[in-house]
Amino acid sequence: MAVRNGRSQGRLIVVSNRVALPDQTATGGLASAMRAALQERGGVWFGWSGKVARQAGGEVHRQTDGQVEYATMDLSRTDHDDFYDGFANRTLWPLLHYRPDLVDYDRKHLAGYLRVNNLFAEQLISLIGPNDLVWINDYHLIPLAAMLRERGVRNRIGFFLHTPLPAASLLIALPRHLELLETLASYDLVGLHTPRDQRALQEYFLYEVGATMRRDGRIRTPEGRNFRAEVFPIGIDTAAVAEWASHADEHEEIHDLRQSLEGRALIIGVDRLDYSKGLPERFHAYARLLERSPQLHRKVSFLQIAPTSRGGVPEYRQIRRELERMAGHINGEYAAPDWVPIRYVNNSYPHSLLSGYYRSARVGLVTPLRDGMNLVAKEYVASQDPEDPGVLVLSRFAGAAQELRDALLVNPADTEEVAEALGIALEMSLHERRVRWRRMMDVLEKQDVTAWRNAFLRRLAE
Ligand code: UDP
Ligand code: G6P
Repeated sequence: MAVRNGRSQGRLIVVSNRVALPDQTATGGLASAMRAALQERGGVWFGWSGKVARQAGGEVHRQTDGQVEYATMDLSRTDHDDFYDGFANRTLWPLLHYRPDLVDYDRKHLAGYLRVNNLFAEQLISLIGPNDLVWINDYHLIPLAAMLRERGVRNRIGFFLHTPLPAASLLIALPRHLELLETLASYDLVGLHTPRDQRALQEYFLYEVGATMRRDGRIRTPEGRNFRAEVFPIGIDTAAVAEWASHADEHEEIHDLRQSLEGRALIIGVDRLDYSKGLPERFHAYARLLERSPQLHRKVSFLQIAPTSRGGVPEYRQIRRELERMAGHINGEYAAPDWVPIRYVNNSYPHSLLSGYYRSARVGLVTPLRDGMNLVAKEYVASQDPEDPGVLVLSRFAGAAQELRDALLVNPADTEEVAEALGIALEMSLHERRVRWRRMMDVLEKQDVTAWRNAFLRRLAE
């Protein structure tokens, strides 16, 4: 085995557009999970610094925290606008979340996307040693392995898609989809959250690319490249979340929230302000609950934490305006001088505080229209008091619904069904809450983020 810098065993090099630097709140599932996955194993985390600079792509900023070395680069204004606001978040994100109506395709944005992927490849070359495992993450960086291979990289390279993958019939709506998606074959392993996503990928390769399935389960392209596409449902750091939550009352903020409730049952939602999260539908369902259950007036309070996200993209600004209007409308209709039905907050909070907020809530309301996994659903469960746990109301269209079968599963588009589920959750007996919680917690303890990371890396290294 080749030795580099005195190491015979390679490092782990994680690459993602978003990097959660040590002093930042990791808003977003990818950043939360990779932070937890890297902390214990150590490695390098390479990606965008989150900054837009006049002179970009040149300098790599380095910093080390514990076993993790961070290497980040700035993007120029044009690269940021074309790659991040443009192709990644106005074209790919809506497509991958089953919203072809919101897909905005622009050749200039695609060119920017390829340009930034090339920039990533150039910078990565000097970081990769002969035995390193390279783990590239998410839809921003699909062609990166192909670009590294062009530059002679022979290392094992894995890819994990943190979003859903829709069926081939939808994917082909993307102009020049073949050029982009075919490059997935340059990876050795492609990881997805659910069997449905895996089927979509296989179907795309078999019918659009003309690939075949080998007997060993690998996909073989007409050019003769072989790769695996397998399911690895992402987890959370269950023990850490439970530990933070059990110390919730040490935080003044948690104490203040509980006091402000004056004994009312709390329903909580925590989501980036994104149209995929089904927030207007959720607000409608809560309003419907108040309409059909006057006995709940003044007895319940709904806290929606929704940090703003991707503010440069028009659809995100639009959803923000819509929710402000809706929250105002519902409060206007139902509020009393001593009762605010909806508390709508655009700030983001660190995990240590969030887990306390989750634990203070009788109901976790997680109703995305589509979601790769949804870590908030898992964090809500892991934060509960085992003696008096709350109830999770969860969309069937979140990847998490495949594992958390003891949540109350709903279709977020069915206002009546969500309102009913909220009513059931608020009334549920302690015995049933405990039984459901225990079964979900068993899953989360077994399939935590460490198990996820190990399973993926073991397979990649095989
Ligand atoms: N998050 C956070 N602070 C906030 C809001 C969210 O740390 O104020 C975290 C949340 O705890 C979770 C992640 O952001 O770990 C969101 O991940 P999820 O998979 O639910 O959705 P995504 O944002 O990736 O679509
Ligand atoms: C989702 C995506 C991630 C992204 C996160 C936050 O989880 O899958 O790739 O990092 O949202 O979005 P942002 O645009 O702020 O990185």
